[in-house]
Amino acid sequence: MKRAVENLLETAGRALSELGDDPKALDRARVRFLGRKGELAQLFKQLGQVDEQDRREAGRVLNEAKAELEALFLKALDKNRDLAAAERPTIDVSVPGRRPPRGRLHPITQTAAEICRIFNWLGFETVEGPEIELDYYNFEALNIPKDHPARDMQDTFYISEDVVLRTHTSPLQVRTMEKRTPPVRVIAPGRTYRRDSDVTHTPMFHQVEGLMVGKGISFGDLKGILTTFVHQMFGQNVALRFRPSFFPFTEPSAEVDIECVMCRGKGCRVCKGTGWLEILGSGMVDPQVYTYVGYDPEEITGFAFGMGIERIAMLKYGIDDLRLFFENDLRFLQQF
Ligand code: PHE
Repeated sequence: MKRAVENLLETAGRALSELGDDPKALDRARVRFLGRKGELAQLFKQLGQVDEQDRREAGRVLNEAKAELEALFLKALDKNRDLAAAERPTIDVSVPGRRPPRGRLHPITQTAAEICRIFNWLGFETVEGPEIELDYYNFEALNIPKDHPARDMQDTFYISEDVVLRTHTSPLQVRTMEKRTPPVRVIAPGRTYRRDSDVTHTPMFHQVEGLMVGKGISFGDLKGILTTFVHQMFGQNVALRFRPSFFPFTEPSAEVDIECVMCRGKGCRVCKGTGWLEILGSGMVDPQVYTYVGYDPEEITGFAFGMGIERIAMLKYGIDDLRLFFENDLRFLQQF
């Protein structure tokens, strides 16, 4: 027995030294010598056949051998681990970290904020209203009766007979005047919807509405405020003009054109050779609208205006394709 044990320890020692650094080979060797059916276990099994008086001593020798073998394998295992660790790539803590990409505001959001900032500076307070709107606020109280062409099914998303997706921000005129007593000066940015989809129209777009009403407010105030706005937004030297127009809820009405920002008024593809670009609709609030909100048209006057934010952003940043705003291409968005 004693010799068998010595033999075993010797073979095991040799096997381990020839192992190399393959962890699988180490495990195979462990099973071979220390496994449940391994060589050491075989020797323990033979213990029963050893003569009674020698059995005690043989058992001691076997247990010692077991401890020795286990120690051998533990050492080999440690060596293996060290080798594996040495091969693993180390971390170079001096390399500069990778910064997480920083988000930014969408150009439409930035443009809306810039428009509001200018009007806030002129004393207008920013307000907001619902995108799902009552027919009453979107049309009726703005002097657009049921049979008006602006209500054509082509243009409006109807949710029910009385509920629409607002087609402009003008319902905020009515909602604001209903809640407040004059003088009122508000600016109202937000999403608007029309059943329109082509290269220059998207079903969802953005507008900013403005409203200034009180005692003695005239068309001169409209011109002064909008001229100041254009100069702040596009530069002091940009020319603008007021062109007669029509809206059911303003009288008289005017559209504002600015000198083409692409060709500086010479005439080009963008301004279709005219040298001018339309940027907003405006006018003196129609007396009819005051009667809906309980203001006295004999006492109160004022003006309103509305502009498309996409259009302002395109002119301000020289963007020639509306669709870029809605594709969420980071190469585009990161330029702002
Ligand atoms: N709501 C009008 C439009 O969407 C713009 C407008 C607003 C005109 C306020 C006059 C006064 O075209």
